[in-house]
Amino acid sequence: MTTRGRFITLEGVDGAGKSTHTVWIADFLRAQGLDVVSTREPGGTPLGEKLRALLLTDAMGLDTETLLMFAARCEHLHQVIEPALARGAWVVCDRYTDATYAYQGGGRGLGAARVATLESWMQAGQPDRTWLFDVPLEVARARLADAREPDRFEREGAAFFERTREAYHARAAADPSRIRIVDSTQSIAQVRAGLEAGLRELLGQSA
Ligand code: TYD
Repeated sequence: MTTRGRFITLEGVDGAGKSTHTVWIADFLRAQGLDVVSTREPGGTPLGEKLRALLLTDAMGLDTETLLMFAARCEHLHQVIEPALARGAWVVCDRYTDATYAYQGGGRGLGAARVATLESWMQAGQPDRTWLFDVPLEVARARLADAREPDRFEREGAAFFERTREAYHARAAADPSRIRIVDSTQSIAQVRAGLEAGLRELLGQSA
């Protein structure tokens, strides 16, 4: 029987530097000879990418925003994530349900209970490992300043950022064995060293 693959997610506030590390993690796992699917949310399917474009640009109510996040996720889970894990591939996903708890639940103030309702409706399991890239506001702002035109979430103010970061921390505190906080103010090399140790642990290669 095929061994089920592992599901890894990367999280963090905008500007935490998670996208750089997502690419590195996928490359590292491929170099171990694994079948790796690198994907992202919202998005990851043709329909999901259309929803992403709407979510990042169009004004909408909070319930609509949350439901669309889950609509994209549902499609992604059934079309991409589940089939990949079932065939033994490792899935590396840039953001997943923790982002909805953080951004919609915390940042926008929807609260965790509403997000939990939708999560239970979707009946998905938790990722095997989540790395939460954490940086204070000033660092995130400095990194975003060099990036392209900010999207609808990146344009939010300091209070939104702090609520989102706090909600991420609450998620990590509630599930410390799954969610590992990475101090993303460190150099890329330092972050990678920590990630490599964590990946080797998942691969069963730790000493
Ligand atoms: P992001 O992953 O940061 O991509 P990029 O690196 O291209 O900016 O952008 C996705 C945005 O979507 C990000 O601001 C967070 C937001 N988001 C939510 O608000 N809720 C969610 O459930 C997800 C998956 C993302």
